[in-house]
Amino acid sequence: MKILGIETSCDETSLAVVENGTNVLQNIISSSSELFTDLGGVIPEEAARKQLEHIPVIIHKILQDFSIDAIAYTKEPGLQGSLLVGRTAAHIMASILKIPLYAVHHTNGHLDSIFLDQTDTITFPVLSVSVSGGHTELWLRTDVCTQELLGKTRDDAAGEAYDKGAQLLGLAYPGGPEIAKIAKTGSANAFAFTLPMQQVDSYDYSFSGLKNALRLHVQALSKTELAVNLKHLAASYQQAINNHLVQKIVKVLTKYSQIQEIHIVGGVAANLDLREKLVQHSQGCIVRWPTKKVYCTDNGAMIAASAYKRFIAK
Ligand code: KG4
Ligand code: ZN
Repeated sequence: MKILGIETSCDETSLAVVENGTNVLQNIISSSSELFTDLGGVIPEEAARKQLEHIPVIIHKILQDFSIDAIAYTKEPGLQGSLLVGRTAAHIMASILKIPLYAVHHTNGHLDSIFLDQTDTITFPVLSVSVSGGHTELWLRTDVCTQELLGKTRDDAAGEAYDKGAQLLGLAYPGGPEIAKIAKTGSANAFAFTLPMQQVDSYDYSFSGLKNALRLHVQALSKTELAVNLKHLAASYQQAINNHLVQKIVKVLTKYSQIQEIHIVGGVAANLDLREKLVQHSQGCIVRWPTKKVYCTDNGAMIAASAYKRFIAK
């Protein structure tokens, strides 16, 4: 069964064809993020306008190459104008082609991105760590369709912390890859960051304090000192975000000893330092992230996979 997945929740227009919820036959991602490089974030109207331009071109190409059996689109959450573009295109195509249409929650798309091009069998229960620009959530999944939210961020998302931190450091948007790149040669212990939520007995996160601590470090430096210390600041800030993420994950693993696998999904799952830290603290669980980096950030393939796993296979 070939499902066309449509993802337009932020600045990407991504359409993919996925066979039986796993085999990715096509995954086209057209991003307008270069328009927002210097802004530190997305202008919603501008992103939607670009999606309106891109989507007919991509649809045309896909329908030339594939015959599809169903359509899945991101229903929420996301930028309203952007979601509307994907939803409208999906409804029109499904009605013209007379094929089933599935509405998928963006978070479930990220959780199910783990199935894309996956050759291993996943063993449940799974702790899914969903970390992106819009959300930071810990999900306990007892099977593909049953999940419980254990914790989430109380303010900024982890990706947002990377993006806002990058802006404070004068780096481009999206900030996560920029910080990760320059952090490689920096010292992670050069600048002190206090880990948030130490006294709070929950699996929730808070990243806004780390961002403010970074702001204070930046303000205390002259322009020349900042240039010299940029890589050290990036490395220390990255370590603080990732340690905060890992600390709560370890807390979950200690309480829920039945967990077999840890999945890290969403844009921040592309962060190599976070992957390493998770493997170090996995307490014997298998640690997985999407099989390709493009399946970490927003993509249509994960939406198609999620529709298959949750609606069709079920
Ligand atoms: O999942 P995604 O594409 O979009 C949302 O649903 O938000 O995630 C984008 C986020 C951005 O905040 C970006 O800075 C972050 O993922 N990101 C990274 C890395 N690559 C992307 N954060 C840290 N390290 C990376 N290598
Ligand atoms: Zn996302």
